Order: sequence, then C-alpha cells, then structure tokens
Amino acid sequence: MGKLDGKVAVISGAGYGLGRGIAIALAKEGAKVATIGRTREKLEDFQKDMDSRGFEAMYFVGDVSKRESVNEFIDEVVAKWGTVDIDINNAMCYNMRSFIETTDEDIDKIFDSSVRGTVYMMQACYPYFKKNGAGKVVNFSSIAGQYGMVDHSSYAIAKAGLSGLTRAVALEWGADNIQVNAIAPAGATPAWYKFEKEQPKEIVEAFLNQIPAHKMGDPEKDIGRVVAFLSSEDSNWITSRTIFVDGGQGAIR
Ligand SMILES: NC(=O)c1ccc[n+]([C@@H]2O[C@H](COP(=O)([O-])OP(=O)(O)OC[C@H]3O[C@@H](n4cnc5c(N)ncnc54)[C@H](O)[C@@H]3O)[C@@H](O)[C@H]2O)c1
Repeated sequence: MGKLDGKVAVISGAGYGLGRGIAIALAKEGAKVATIGRTREKLEDFQKDMDSRGFEAMYFVGDVSKRESVNEFIDEVVAKWGTVDIDINNAMCYNMRSFIETTDEDIDKIFDSSVRGTVYMMQACYPYFKKNGAGKVVNFSSIAGQYGMVDHSSYAIAKAGLSGLTRAVALEWGADNIQVNAIAPAGATPAWYKFEKEQPKEIVEAFLNQIPAHKMGDPEKDIGRVVAFLSSEDSNWITSRTIFVDGGQGAIR
C-alpha cells in the first residue's frame, strides 16, 4: 500500500531536474503522474523512464506560462484518468544577472514560467479538488526568495512571491480541505553537475560548505519523498508553509 494509491498527480517540468525525481517518488507511493513540459525529447525520456519502472504516467507538450496550454493539459489528464488530486508546481526558467543589469525580459522569464505557471495550474486543478472534497498543492520557493542570493534578484522576486501566493491561497482553500504548501529545496540536477564540473574547486567547496552534510540532496529520495508526504493525507494538518528541504543550507544564513 502506497501513501498515494489511486491518486492522480500533475507536475510541471518533470522532463528534467528535480521534477523527474519527484515524479518517481510520487509514483512509488502509487500515484499516476502526468507532466507538462516544452521539449518533446525530454518528455519522451520521462515516459520511457516511468514505463520502464512500471509506473502509470503521461506527458503533454505545452508551456505553463500560457493559460490555454495549462487548461488543455489538465483536460487531457482528466479525460484519461478522471480527475486531479495533487498539483506540483515545479517548472521555472530564469537568467542569472546582477540586479543593476536585470532587464524586463529577465523578470518576465521567471515570472511567466514560475508565478503565472503556478497560478494557472492551481486554478485549473481547483474545480476537481472542490468536487473531490480534497486537494494538495506543492509550490516551489527557494532559499533565494527567503534570504536573497547574489545575481538572483529576478528569481528572488518570483520565489518570495510564490511563498506569499502559497499563504494566501491556503487561507482561501482551507475550508475546502485543500492544503497548499511550498518547499525551498537544494537538490542535485544536471545544472548542478555542470556547475560542479566547470567551476573552480574552491567555489564548489564554498557552496557545499553551506550544507551541513556537504552534498546536494537526491531529487527522489531527499526531495521527492517530502513532496510525496506533502501530497498525502499524512500532512493534512500542514498548510500555508514554505518548508526548507535543503539539508540545512538555509540554517547557516
Ligand atoms: N535544484 C535546486 O537546488 C533548487 C533550489 C531552489 C529552488 N529550486 C526550485 O525547484 C524547482 C525545480 O528546479 P530544478 O533545479 O530541477 O530546475 P531545472 O531547470 O532543472 O528544471 C525545471 C524544469 O521546468 C521546465 N520548464 C521551464 N519553463 C517551463 C515552462 N514555461 N513550461 C513548462 N515547463 C517549463 C524546464 O524545461 C525543466 O524541465 C524550480 O522551481 C526551482 O526554482 C531548485
């Protein structure tokens, strides 16, 4: 028996990065998992990976920054599996830039992919949560949104905004038995492995020294299992919170 047996989960951006590990963790607990992403190749790889593990999965080629694309995605999921129980808003893309050089395009890029994407996904899932008398949302904040990070000002605006959105909607949807939480993760992704390979050793060490265990988290085991908990009935008494799933990185600030 898994914690999420029979549940339908939607997750944005699981073709790549943390989202893939989170999708696997949810499926291991029994959820059917659908993802939306922009690159067919990465999504086909997601499907192959999930199929090879014996999980029920589907993908939709789309863009979370476009409301109609998100609505079509949710319609396809409901046509296939009948409902949606869990909404994981993982997708984002952004540019690293000093604050003084930050452009409108930089702000739009992170705002559209993460803030608009999260709003559209939550609004599209709500009618099913309401009908089912239950729902779970996990949004993605960041240490950068809570404490700041050099060259991450546009990202920090969006990520602090997502924690605010999480608190606001948790209040509105509480009476409908819908729990809305966020995580601020630190996990190993292809981008992290590239950074580790390409940056000077002292820079990599300085980053890892912020984390007591001196390593990045595993997307499935360290981050995905917490997302699975926040997607399950075990966390019904947690809502509105941004939970740091970062091996203690935030504690050192
Ligand atoms: N990796 C970390 O340590 C870390 C730290 C703090 C916060 N986060 C947050 O966790 C989440 C996942 O991070 P990650 O490191 O895996 O990122 P990533 O860049 O590796 O993966 C993000 C995924 O989102 C997809 N995506 C981007 N824009 C999209 C759009 N408009 N429509 C559909 N899909 C889109 C990308 O294609 C990609 O598959 C993000 O919200 C990120 O801000 C991650």
